[in-house]
Formats: sequence, C-alpha cells, structure tokens
Amino acid sequence: MTGTQDWTAVVLAAGKGTRMKSALPKVLHPLLGRPMLSWVLQAATDAGAGRLAVVVGFGRDRIVETVGAEFPQATFVLQEEQRGTGHAVLCCREALSGVDGPILILCGDTPLIQAATLRQFLEAHRSSGAAASALTFRADNPHGYGRIVRDQAGNLAKIVEQKDATPQELEISEVNAGVYAVGAQELFHALGCITPQNAQGEYYLPDIVAVLSSGGSLVRAHRVSEATDFRGINHRGELAELTEVLRRRRNTQLMLDGVTLESPGSTHVEWSVTLESDTVLEPGVRLEGRTRVAQGCRVGTGSVLKDSTLLAGAVVRPYCVLDGARVGPGAIVGPFAHLRPGADIGAAARVGNFVEVKNVKLGERSKAMHLTYLGDAEIGAGTNIGAGTITCNYDGQTKHHTTIGDDCFVGSDSVLVAPIEIGPGAYVAAGSVLTRNVPSRALGIGRARQENKPGYRDVLDRRRGLRSAGEDAGSATTVGEGTASEPEGSTGA
Ligand code: UD1
Ligand code: MG
Repeated sequence: MTGTQDWTAVVLAAGKGTRMKSALPKVLHPLLGRPMLSWVLQAATDAGAGRLAVVVGFGRDRIVETVGAEFPQATFVLQEEQRGTGHAVLCCREALSGVDGPILILCGDTPLIQAATLRQFLEAHRSSGAAASALTFRADNPHGYGRIVRDQAGNLAKIVEQKDATPQELEISEVNAGVYAVGAQELFHALGCITPQNAQGEYYLPDIVAVLSSGGSLVRAHRVSEATDFRGINHRGELAELTEVLRRRRNTQLMLDGVTLESPGSTHVEWSVTLESDTVLEPGVRLEGRTRVAQGCRVGTGSVLKDSTLLAGAVVRPYCVLDGARVGPGAIVGPFAHLRPGADIGAAARVGNFVEVKNVKLGERSKAMHLTYLGDAEIGAGTNIGAGTITCNYDGQTKHHTTIGDDCFVGSDSVLVAPIEIGPGAYVAAGSVLTRNVPSRALGIGRARQENKPGYRDVLDRRRGLRSAGEDAGSATTVGEGTASEPEGSTGA
C-alpha cells in the first residue's frame, strides 16, 4: 500500500443551490458556525488528502475568500457554466496535471461526511485494484438518486440518473452516494468520452462508470450500510436536519470528554469552541466562535457566549450575553448580565443583574451587582460599585477613560463623568455626579445638599382650605405661617 498523502480530493461546489433561496452561495451556509464546504474539506484533510481541489462557480469570490482562508492549501478551479458534474471534474484537468494517485470526488453540500468513512472507502478501492469505485447504499426512498446497475458478476456496470431511468431501473433501491475514487488517468480518459445526450443535457460524472466498465476496466460499487454521512443539503429544512446531526455528534463527544450537558438537545456548541471537563452547561446554552471554557465552570440556562473565555470555576448565571469577554477564575456573572468586548472580570469578582460591561478591567474580588453601566474603565481589586453606577464615557464625540483604584466604595446611583480617577481607598457618596478626580482615601460628594421643610404638610393643607389634623383633635398646636416656607418649584396648587 502507498502512503496516505498520495491521493487528491476534488470537491464539487459550483452549483447555485437554487432551492436555498439565498444570496449566499449554498456551500457557505454555516452548520455549527462553520461553512458547509469547510466540513467536507476538513474530512478530506483529516483522512489524509495530499491535495485539495475545489470546483467553484456561483459565488466563487466569497467562497475563495472565506473557505480559502481556512484551507490555504486548497486549489480553487473555476467552472464558468454549470454543465454537469462530469464537466465540473473535467475543469480540474489542468490543475491536476501530473497527479497520478487516486482522486477522491466529493460534493461540497454533504457536510456529514467523516474522515473514517473516506479512509475505509479509499482502502477498499485500493485493495480491490479497481480502476474506479463508487460509494453506494440502499435507500428507503431512492427518488432523486442515481441507480446502481450491476452486471451478472455483481460488478458495477453503470449508474442511471432518476430522469433517465427505465421503470425497471427505478425499482433499484441501491443508489449512488456521489462519492467516487478513480485513478487520475482513467478519470480524465473516461471524462473525455462522456456526452450530454441525456434527459438533462448535462455531462454526468457517473457516466464514467459505463465508459470504464464497457472498456473492460474493473469498476466497483462499495456499498455501506449507514447512509447518514452522504446526506446532502438542498433546502433550509435539510440544513436544519443536518445541523441537528452535527450538533448531536458534537455534544456526544463533549459528554465523552467529561462535560455535563443537562439538555444536549437544546445545547448549541459551535465547532470552534473548546471546553474542559467538569463544566456544566444548563439547558438552552449557546457557545459560539472562539469561546474557551476551562475546567469546572457552569453556564446557566439561556446564556449566549461568543468569542469569550471562562477561566476555571467561573460561573455564568442564567440569561447572560457575553461577547469578547473574559471571566476570571471563580468569578460569578449574572443573571442577566451583558459583557461586551474587552470586559475582563477578575478572579472571584462579581457582576450581577442588569449590569453592562464594555472594555473594562474589573479587579479581583470587586463587585458590581446591580443595574450598572461600566465602559472604558480600569477598576482595582476589592472595590464595590453600587447599584445604578454609570461611567459616563462618551461626550458625543470621544470615549474617555475612568480609573477606580483598589478598595474603593462607589455609592449607588453615581455618575462618574470621564476622564476621571477615583484614588485607592476612596469613597463616592451615593447619588453623586462627579466631574473631578477623587484623591486616595477621600470622600467625593457631588450632589445637591438635602434640606427638610418642617410642617410642610400643614402649609399645604391650609392653602387647600383644610384644617390640620391637630385642629380636628382640638389641639391648639398648629404650624404657624412662615415656619415652613414653600419649597422651590411648588406651584402652590
Ligand atoms: C448526483 C449524482 C447522482 C447521485 C447524487 C448523490 C450526477 C449526474 N448525479 O445527483 O447519481 O445519486 O449526486 O447526491 O452527478 N455541481 C457542480 N457543477 C455542475 C453541477 C453540479 O459543481 O455543473 C456540484 C453541485 O454544486 C453539487 C454536486 O456537484 O455540490 C452534485 O450536483 P447535484 O446537481 O446536486 O447532483 P444530484 O442531482 O444530487
Ligand atoms: Mg444533490
């Protein structure tokens, strides 16, 4: 047997995918956050493909841009006009000149294909010594598939498309999966012989089977019992179904790796996310992008984490949204917290409900427990941010920075107008609007001083022509006019 790198994968992805009814090329629709085509290229790469060629047509620029960035080793071949699967492969002739190992042909819209399946197929192809092999399975409903026609000896004689099949051929339940292994020379020789004389006026790739077998070459059908891997996507319903299969596979693996999923069916973990053992994901959690979750964390129901990092033992309580955030070891966030890019929550710190944090470093053991906006700030360790605190970071044109030292106490409902610095150990009186720095260990107060108007109620009652409660009771005690002056802003109603 030859090495594993000597074969080439050709992936067909030029079709428009009309039934998706989308401006996005079909093969770029994501499953668990990854383009459909990338799943196929990953399987081919994992199976040991030495070369990748992708046939593109509709939406080629976007495909090359996104998938090409992920698979820089892939060669993209343009098929200007979609004249059939055979024509698509023929477009690769130049790009594959000099290739002589087997060529494995796959479709870009079958994202469930797995490396192990491809390896087994190639192994079977090689050991049979066949010129070409096609992967087949028995379909409960073969409608739409090419039918496998075998000769007396059981070898593959030809593949007949649904639209070209005779009534007897339509009875055949063994179908073409659309995955082939062919020697490079045999492939391009056979492709040169096929014609578009068929019901769809297309160059059919499966026609190479008849060309080769009638020319005396051995062509094998490699039948598999499990067809899930070859399921394709033509419309959004299938996109959802196959996403579900990938989600199940992913979640099963996570559980095997030691992650508890309280409700695997409602847990969405994108392919690029990493999780360590003893983490618990409650029902309805969604983890996206480059999210990293360390050991022993808990993510509460309904939380969505994108490109975020949870360090060991961090807890995200239910209904939080994290995007580009980092939560330190043992920190607790939520419920109902919103951590935006640059939120960096220190070890054992607490961020409570209805708190929004953006581009803020919150020191270890510091707390912001209720109804707060913290933006563009650095907050030291052991500091308490009271309910309703707002860092006023934006003056309408520019963002400004707030610095709060270690061990500060910021009273509730304070507005800190940036740029501003609250020194270590300082206090901010509740309800303050501060525009100037507070020195270390000082108390900053920035609010109107409270004044009480004694007997104010009696003044109002008298104006309205009511006797005071005191007069009713026969008491002589009344509040004389002038002892309680009218408050500012009183309308004297
Ligand atoms: C094809 C097979 C059929 C098989 C089925 C399995 C042919 C003629 N028929 O049918 O025997 O049972 O797959 O799913 O091959 N494409 C191009 N350029 C083209 C035409 C197609 O790149 O000119 C690409 C499509 O984007 C798609 C793939 O080839 O990824 C398959 O094409 P599709 O039209 O879906 O073929 P099927 O009708 O499914
Ligand atoms: Mg198809």
